[in-house]
Amino acid sequence: MNHSTTPTIDPAVKAALASRRSVRAFKPTPVPMETVRKLLEISSRAPSGTNMQPWQAHVVTGAAKDRVCQAVHHARNTENDKHVAEYNYYPDVFPEPYKTRRRKVGWDMYGLLGIGREDKDKMFAQAGRNFVFFDAPVGIFFTIDKSLEIGSWLDFGMFLGNFVTAARGAGLDTCAQAAWCHYHTVIRKEIGFSEEQTVVCGMALGYADDDAVIGQLVTDRAPLEDWVQWHGE
Ligand SMILES: Cc1cc2nc3c(=O)[nH]c(=O)nc-3n(C[C@H](O)[C@H](O)[C@H](O)COP(=O)(O)O)c2cc1C
Repeated sequence: MNHSTTPTIDPAVKAALASRRSVRAFKPTPVPMETVRKLLEISSRAPSGTNMQPWQAHVVTGAAKDRVCQAVHHARNTENDKHVAEYNYYPDVFPEPYKTRRRKVGWDMYGLLGIGREDKDKMFAQAGRNFVFFDAPVGIFFTIDKSLEIGSWLDFGMFLGNFVTAARGAGLDTCAQAAWCHYHTVIRKEIGFSEEQTVVCGMALGYADDDAVIGQLVTDRAPLEDWVQWHGE
């Protein structure tokens, strides 16, 4: 192999990585289960410490998806205070620069949808779209053994990164959803998984509805200068 020229990223790999975004409006077009199988299988090529492969997935479609969505919708509307996530995704207080980045994506999204900063009811309703998987035909709950340590969560992140990229490679779109974590008791009851497992996140999977306004959301990234230091001679 000739390594004398600067390597370029394979165009297909680059396109899958660069075109991925979190999609929050899907078309009803179904996704064949064989495709979902293939995506999960290829994603499991992710590295994991001592090859533990800590990922577990629960794929929900059709009536099973409707049931869990309805149960969570009910819980959210009647007893929302009772539902607390089993792990902290976010800190209680957001330090900079994370606070500014987080606010920007939130206001950009609500701005696109014409939701004002004081309009809590509309914000609650928009957040509720999580719990129909943004109308995606396939929902996935990813779970992990509670006994595992933070390293396995790192492995899980690698697996999920593979999954969202592989989905793009198949012309599909995704949205990872930590929002579901609050309702782990409801999800566990509806789809039936062990108390030893906790919900890492949900995932919406399907084809983006390109006509939806929310699809215009573009998120930016900090330039490399902000977060890379090169240590040479
Ligand atoms: C683990 C994880 C959980 C997320 N949870 C949610 C969620 O519950 N609802 C949502 O709308 N977006 C969620 N997101 C999407 C992020 O908001 C999104 O990745 C970020 O704003 C960057 O935008 P992009 O994915 O379009 O590049 C989540 C992303 C990750 C990685």
